[in-house]
Amino acid sequence: MRTPLVAGNWKMHKTPSEARVWFNEFLDELGAAPPGVEVALLPSHPLLPVAAEELAGSGVAFGAQDVSAHAWGAYTGEVSALQVADLGARYAVVGHSERRRYWREPSELVAAKADQALKAGLTPILCVGEPLEVREAGGAVAYVLDQLRRSLAGVEPGGPDRLVVAYEPVWAIGTGRTATPADAETMAAALREELAVRYGAGFAEGVRVLYGGSIKPENFAEILAGANVDGGLVGGASLEVASFLRLVLLAGGL
Ligand code: 13P
Repeated sequence: MRTPLVAGNWKMHKTPSEARVWFNEFLDELGAAPPGVEVALLPSHPLLPVAAEELAGSGVAFGAQDVSAHAWGAYTGEVSALQVADLGARYAVVGHSERRRYWREPSELVAAKADQALKAGLTPILCVGEPLEVREAGGAVAYVLDQLRRSLAGVEPGGPDRLVVAYEPVWAIGTGRTATPADAETMAAALREELAVRYGAGFAEGVRVLYGGSIKPENFAEILAGANVDGGLVGGASLEVASFLRLVLLAGGL
């Protein structure tokens, strides 16, 4: 049985003081998290110490939206996985489509980042997803599996709890368009099959595959109904306590 994960990617939103207020309000409203759901927040780097402080002891995890492909050194402006891990973070997103697109991050760089995250003790949340023209041409599955293979070249998670894969179709991010539940399930199943080829059947059975792209309380339950969809990577709907809390409760079957 895979524990569903609901992860909020705040992107470049909120100041440290706004984050502090959000965490407090969220924990107050959450009370005890629904059993069998894991919750994680992924704020931008300057907010991570606030997450560490405010979420300590709550059971709610946190992580970074990106880490460097280098362990340490003269890389001005970069943030290392070790620095993030030392704060008590559990996760690091790698290969988000916004980074692939606006910073031209190739899958080979994403693999190096995943490797650094693992070496620092973080669990990478590896994002993959196709642009609209690829989906319209019928090539979505082949495109995404190729992206997965290249983003995992040389990456050895060691166990299924040391990797999360997030399927985020580029055309569904921040657009209000979501993949159909059937398309999300088809892709999640294909990703799991590929992970079985790469790391073995036991690994694939235990690894979590998330969907991301315009998740809202109104569409989350039907997306989660897919047997291979183990939760969500949530952008916009994670910014408000009420909507994110609703998503967490839905993942807990409430
Ligand atoms: P939205 O939920 O705002 O579409 O963003 C999805 C996303 O990119 C999460 O990483």
